[in-house]
Amino acid sequence: MSTPHNSAEMGDIAKVVLMPGDPLRAKFTAETFLTDVVCFNKVRNCFGFTGTYKGKKISVMASGMGIPSIGIYSHELYHFYGVESIIRIGTAGGLAPDLNLKDIVLGMGACTNSNYINQFGLPGQFAPICDFDLLRLAYETCQDKKVPVKVGNLVSNDTFYDHLGNVNERWRDMGALAVEMESAGLYANAASCGKRALTICSISDHLFKPEQLSPKEREQGLTTMLEIALDTGIKALDL
Ligand code: HPA
Repeated sequence: MSTPHNSAEMGDIAKVVLMPGDPLRAKFTAETFLTDVVCFNKVRNCFGFTGTYKGKKISVMASGMGIPSIGIYSHELYHFYGVESIIRIGTAGGLAPDLNLKDIVLGMGACTNSNYINQFGLPGQFAPICDFDLLRLAYETCQDKKVPVKVGNLVSNDTFYDHLGNVNERWRDMGALAVEMESAGLYANAASCGKRALTICSISDHLFKPEQLSPKEREQGLTTMLEIALDTGIKALDL
């Protein structure tokens, strides 16, 4: 049965879904890496595709930007479509001094300034963490491919443009590696229904370094991340 945001029917979506924020990145991923591709969703242009990668069925669907958006799409995938694992494939702004553009980060945890997790009515602060098996598989995939990777805390910020500024220094000083806008909501949704989630990020900009990526370099960084995510994703089918 379809939902208000997803026209797929049960069975159209694989057990493992890769989730970029950008719908066109979902399309690019499907068209570049998958065969036998079927588009299962176009509602709000939040494209979703299922196809075959190295002989295995896998899906890729956009999340949109921010925790409310990934909150909706991931809830529906977990609850209404039998999805077991969501691997967010995103860009993030570097915070840690030893991170550089195009580096790959695995989000072991995700701090947030969002109120999204209040809905679970906990008597304290929930610590959103990724699924250990997905993290292990992604880390091993990076090692196999000889891709350097950092593992640690992300910050899922509700604002891209912070009115007061200087918030990022404090997150950096607590050891957070990079800032993005979705993982804490995804991790909380996964925890609430006993499913799996992981964020794999490519560093697209650094908040404390002046360097910028050319479009070609940006694409290279994304391609590395996509290959890691796809190989992790098909291994996750066997979890
Ligand atoms: N802030 C939040 N999200 C991001 C950033 C950033 O600097 N870069 C890429 N995604």
